[in-house]
Formats: sequence, structure tokens, C-alpha cells
Amino acid sequence: MEKEIRALKARKNAVILAHNYQPMEIQALADVVGDSLELSVKAKETDADLIVVCGVRFMAETAKILNPERKVIIPVEDAGCPLADFLTPEVIREAKERHPDAAVVVYVNSTAESKALADITCTSANAVQVARSLPNDTILFGPDANLAAYVQRELPEKTIIPLPPGGHCYVHAGFTLADIEAARELGGTIVCHPECPPEIQEQADRIASTGGMVRDAATGDEPWWVFTEREMAFRLRVLYPGRVFYEKPEAVCADMKKISLTDLQRALEREEHEIVLSPEVMDRARRAIERMLAVGT
Ligand code: 13P
Ligand code: SF4
Repeated sequence: MEKEIRALKARKNAVILAHNYQPMEIQALADVVGDSLELSVKAKETDADLIVVCGVRFMAETAKILNPERKVIIPVEDAGCPLADFLTPEVIREAKERHPDAAVVVYVNSTAESKALADITCTSANAVQVARSLPNDTILFGPDANLAAYVQRELPEKTIIPLPPGGHCYVHAGFTLADIEAARELGGTIVCHPECPPEIQEQADRIASTGGMVRDAATGDEPWWVFTEREMAFRLRVLYPGRVFYEKPEAVCADMKKISLTDLQRALEREEHEIVLSPEVMDRARRAIERMLAVGT
């Protein structure tokens, strides 16, 4: 099947973009494996005729927004992100009315419609830099309240208002102080994603996006306790075979695991499921994403 997928990819002049949480057999066939920011950058740079996004829907939508003329597909139609569903356009509109002077920063883990209402988007890799780049003292930030708390801690001079107050990712919200204690007993370096709750962020040795984890995993005491979706630790083991990484077995993003090799093969053959968005939404969302890309990491 892998041979067939590679042949189809060449025949269709397709590029496969996969997120760090994708099953390892999908990552092995991807042209690019990365965090949300890296996938956005690659989506913008590609000259492929067909863009296959192995990840969740918001990632495929971002690729489409940056490539309105190209065909973008996601192998499983209902691979979503429950965190993205916390932020509706109504929540943003209401908050804007209450805080007319505030800037709106929307995390890429969001729908295209919410991005279209943003002044700028951000990822976990550049959220602080994006917020710092804005002249506004008050920032409406959604949908992840834990990432908002991280930005607030890094930028005490600003007022970061989470939209909505309790927006969270269930995978990262599952890390507890008991996990910290268990790790501390064995020693090493605790690295958490900024979607983890504030009490975990405070206790961790490092806070990083998944791309940041890939870049920094050669440094720090071992073992590395990887406080994010568990596939990240599997990837780090492949990239750094001499180092020790521990995952939390229960930290699984169910939507990230929906895509199988069979789905990928079928998607390439049939060129489905195509991402279709309204041109107006795409134009507005693109402005917000391009502003983010101009800020960088
Ligand atoms: P990264 O941008 O760090 O890869 O995070 C995306 C994500 O969905 C985290 O849960
Ligand atoms: Fe969304 Fe959480 Fe899955 Fe990331 S890990 S895609 S934030 S549900």
C-alpha cells in the first residue's frame, strides 16, 4: 500500500502535509511533518497540484485559504478539533462590541469563519510574538484559554481576555499535578505544550509547541517527559534514537488518529474530501493568517 501511495502521489503531483500527532505510518509517507505553523508555511510555499492534509480539518482549511486556486483534500471528512468548536463567530462579535479597542487574536485551531473575524491568527509557536506585535493593550484571544494564560504570563503589560473563558483541548486538559509528581520522582525534563493547564505550565521545565519540541529534544536531562499528544514522543524517538522520551498513554487525540493508510490511498485515488470554503471567508481569513506569517516565530 505504501508503494501505491507513493506512486499515486507522484502521478498526481501531490504533496502530503502531516501533523506531528499523525500515526507514524502516515508521517513516514508525508513530504512535510510539522506543527501547525510549519504546515501553514509549507502550504503557502507548495507548487503541487494537489495538497493532501493529514491532520484535522482546521489544518486543511488553512492550507486551502493559503492556496485558493489549488485542490486541498483531507482523507477523512470528519477529522475535527473539539477545541476549535469552542469559538463561534457570535462569541467574537459579542466580545468585540464589549471591547471595541481590543485586538482579536484567533488561534489557528479554529474554524475558517472565526479566522475571518480575526485581526491576526497565531499558533502555539508564535502566540507571544503575535500578541507582542500588536499596539493594543487589550487582546481578545480564543479559543484556547490555557494558551491565553500562557501569553498573559509572558506579557503582563497586556490584558489578555480568553474567548470563551473555558475553551480547552481535552487531550492537554488531561495532564494533572499527579503527572508532574510522578515525573519528578524519576527526574529528567518536563516539557509541556502551552495548551496544558496553567498549573502544569508553571511546574514544567519547558513550554513548547510540537515544532519546538522537535527542535529542542536533543537538549536537557533525560528522560524527556512529553506532556502533549502521545504520538509526539513516538516521533521524537525516531528523530533522536539515542534519547529517552516518555509519553502519557492516555493522551490521545481521537480525531488525529482517524486517518489510516487505506484512507490516504483512497483520498489520493479519488481526490477527496475536497475543502470548499466561501471566497469571502477565505479572503478575510487569509489576511489574518498572512499577518501572522509576517510576524514569524
Ligand atoms: P502545534 O501547533 O504545537 O503542533 O499544536 C497543534 C495542536 O493541535 C496542539 O494540540
Ligand atoms: Fe485539537 Fe487537542 Fe486534537 Fe490538538 S490535540 S487537534 S487541540 S483536540
